[in-house]
Amino acid sequence: MKEQKSKNAKEQKSKNAKERKSERAYRIIWIMGQADAVATNKQKSERVYNIDNHNIDNNLIGDSRKGNNQIDNEQIEIREGDYKRQNMLEEEIMRMPKKSDRIIINGELPLCGNISISGAKNAAVAVIPAALLVDGWCRIENVPQISDVEILKSIVSEMGAKVEVEDSNTLYIDASNIHSHVATYEMVKDLRASYYLLGALLGRLGSAEVYPPGGCDFGFRPIDQHIKGFEALGAVVTESDGIVVANASNLVGAIVYLDIVSVGATLNLMMAAVKAQGTTIIENAAKEPHVVDVANFLNAMGANIRGAGTDRIRIKGVEKLPGKASYTIIPDQIEAGTFMIAAAATGGDVCVRNIIPKHMESLGAKLTEMGLSVTFNGDWIRVKRERPLKSANIKTMPYPGFPTDLQPQVSALLTQADGTSTVTEGIWINRFKYIYELNKMGARIKVEGKKALIRGATPLEGARVDACDLRAGAAIVIAGMMAKGVTELTGVRFIERGYEDFVSKLNSLGADIRYDG
Ligand code: EPU
Repeated sequence: MKEQKSKNAKEQKSKNAKERKSERAYRIIWIMGQADAVATNKQKSERVYNIDNHNIDNNLIGDSRKGNNQIDNEQIEIREGDYKRQNMLEEEIMRMPKKSDRIIINGELPLCGNISISGAKNAAVAVIPAALLVDGWCRIENVPQISDVEILKSIVSEMGAKVEVEDSNTLYIDASNIHSHVATYEMVKDLRASYYLLGALLGRLGSAEVYPPGGCDFGFRPIDQHIKGFEALGAVVTESDGIVVANASNLVGAIVYLDIVSVGATLNLMMAAVKAQGTTIIENAAKEPHVVDVANFLNAMGANIRGAGTDRIRIKGVEKLPGKASYTIIPDQIEAGTFMIAAAATGGDVCVRNIIPKHMESLGAKLTEMGLSVTFNGDWIRVKRERPLKSANIKTMPYPGFPTDLQPQVSALLTQADGTSTVTEGIWINRFKYIYELNKMGARIKVEGKKALIRGATPLEGARVDACDLRAGAAIVIAGMMAKGVTELTGVRFIERGYEDFVSKLNSLGADIRYDG
């Protein structure tokens, strides 16, 4: 009996080791595959904009345009820096601890009740670097407690800013005495949004040196549009080993047409231009809610930015940003969407509170199309599942289109819809890695290029799975909550990058999720 037990234990150990090895091999092959995918990629995305002024902060409306905007993004050139960034990413993944951050999910429990949404991650990770542009203090409220924010707090304090935590979600930052323009590899290695330090430091000090960003990995993440914008303002930018160095004795306003709608390039340029001489115009700007939020923050500190939320942003340079003001970050559109989808997926009834309903329209429309009851009011939205789900076709697009950051979560939901659904990724080259994990749980999803074909409804079963990136992690948690039996999810650190108290919030709605160890 004892011998049999020890034999079983040995077999299990070797099976686990094999699984780990094949998972790791899969991850590396996947990354290597990116090079080919990018080299041959002709990204052609047709982006149809229908700007509705209700989307936009009325104080900031400059020129709003209606119409079609077709972007033909020619073959993306892979530069040496991109390969080096990719190599660093592979090394990073090899070093990642396995099984050190695991949660256990007991599935099949409907989520019910009320949940309050935290401040927007993607606004916070830009507002904190933007605080470096302020010549005095600023107070930032509704800052989510997530690991990306923790990293940024320590980066800006290493640069000489005084950072005080006034309460769990309020930061006081005084950047009067910043002394460094360098963000080293050690400082930024776990952070995608490190590129905002480029625009902020360039705008404040006239020079910036920033190591390549880490963060979520779904294909090459070029920053050519950021660089093009800085150069248009008069900066000299060099890139070597992935390290970007930008210097300008004098930044002068210019008209910059972005070849691709980029949230990061729009925000970075905005930061670099805020104190430039004269006026900068960003054409084909991103219109995401956090672009408007960062513009509002900078204006509250003394900047002169108009048109954020439209595709034409005008920035009149000012000499100083005096600051001495408080600013409250908007609620997180993606966190809200994740809870709406989780409610739908588990057959629940959840009221998602403290949101801006306008930001949730594209998701609300799709959930309604799938047969869910979705009601909006004031600052909340209620999602209730009363009947079987219908299949849907979804394509991710820049705002106000369906957000790419909800693509994995909605794909998990669509595994429960009758018929075949398609989900087309319109922003990133490869954001389907999580599908391997969902299929391990019994989903029937096939990826063809930028399209996932999802056959449903498929019962899911608990499995040992890995959160390969932030939103993938959220999608797998949703799948685990729908699945029969127990799901063991590793890579929870990815989820903690962007969701405040995700596990405890879900438990408060009736989920059964616990940290393992
Ligand atoms: N792109 C270029 N050149 C550039 C910049 C971007 O080709 O210079 C391409 C990208 O490769 C991508 C597309 O343009 O194909 C859009 O990229 P964008 O610059 O808009 O993305 P980002 O600023 O790097 C932010 C969010 C992402 C979100 C995207 C799209 C932050 C910190 N990150 O990334 O959020 O997916 O916008 O909305 O704001 C997440 O929260 O999970 C996340 C990944």
